[in-house]
Amino acid sequence: MTAAIRRVLPGDADALRQVHEVFEAVRAAETPENAPVPAERYAGALEHPPPNSEIRCYAAEADGKVVGLLWIYLPLKENTHYSETELAVHPAHRRRGVGTALLDHLLQVARDEERTEVIVSHRAQVEGGPVRPDTGARFLEGRGFTVALTEIDRSLRLDTLDPAAETRLWDESIGAADDYELVSWIGRCPEAYVEGLGRIDSQIFAEIPLGDVDLRPRTVDADFVRTREDRAEAQGHILIRTIAVHKATGDVTANTVIYAQAGDEHAGQAITIVDPAHRGHRLGLLAKLANLRQLREHHGHVTTVWTGNADTNANMVAINDLLGFRPVDARVSYKRNLAA
Ligand SMILES: CC(C)(COP(=O)(O)OP(=O)(O)OC[C@H]1O[C@@H](n2cnc3c(N)ncnc32)[C@H](O)[C@@H]1OP(=O)(O)O)[C@@H](O)C(=O)NCCC(=O)NCCS
Repeated sequence: MTAAIRRVLPGDADALRQVHEVFEAVRAAETPENAPVPAERYAGALEHPPPNSEIRCYAAEADGKVVGLLWIYLPLKENTHYSETELAVHPAHRRRGVGTALLDHLLQVARDEERTEVIVSHRAQVEGGPVRPDTGARFLEGRGFTVALTEIDRSLRLDTLDPAAETRLWDESIGAADDYELVSWIGRCPEAYVEGLGRIDSQIFAEIPLGDVDLRPRTVDADFVRTREDRAEAQGHILIRTIAVHKATGDVTANTVIYAQAGDEHAGQAITIVDPAHRGHRLGLLAKLANLRQLREHHGHVTTVWTGNADTNANMVAINDLLGFRPVDARVSYKRNLAA
């Protein structure tokens, strides 16, 4: 069987429905413990990519049906050497060359777009976690990819958070943060904090452990913050955020955000960052506690929060552990360098 590969454009509802079906079939077969991704999210992501970037989807079709796909993220402003991809083949259509054809196509797209860093991720088992096939790893290693970064995905069932333990954690920590004010909101950032939020988010790629992934710092300005919010709104994402403000200077010194969605019991804990000059005041833990509190108060339909951290990120992992997050599996970023 030879699969034809074509680009799926935003608005191609039939192809995007099938793309979702392939992702869901792979999840059900290989990572059933992970949160399902609602079908609308694929259409939303193609239509509204992250600021200064493009999302591309290519489908491999056989007999008129989508049997495999590439989901590619291409930064367009900073990090234009970089690309990041999910590659999946429907479990019923494997070992027939579809994966190889898709990977060849990806490498061609990367060359055409002058990307030297090609990242393809796959899920791996962690100690004590459910079984994960190593097919993706063997496939990628056979094509010259090497491990660049391992991120452990953890989940927190909100009903396992003991309110007394949570209050105790808060009480024990708040004294260290006398110089700071925690500010929480849901939705758009108040105008007063937009620049400060951008400033701290500009530090993300300089501060989070990235292993051998070559992502360089990018500038998050007010426009970026607002575009990110427009995108979240267009996709039905609810942004639940807590920041810490340094009382003396008004600087935003910590930021944490959870993405929820109406009707979805799973939510995603995205970035948490504390400015290096303001570490040691328990701001990471306090901001997360405050944010989980507002999640529970305002979006009680969420039962589970997911988060991923580099396996080397001891500080964040320690906080997540205290909050009751438990490892499920790992997302391994494999890399191939296309530089001559
Ligand atoms: C990895 C994946 C994309 C391979 O798709 P595929 O269509 O089966 O790949 P191909 O038919 O082109 O196989 C290419 C080669 O990879 C290797 N390979 C693929 N599956 C394998 C398996 N189960 N065991 C051992 N080797 C395997 C073989 O060398 C194979 O060549 P062969 O069939 O001639 O022996 C598919 O298994 C998949 O979608 N896995 C889940 C998603 C995932 O892990 N993605 C990230 C990694 S790309």
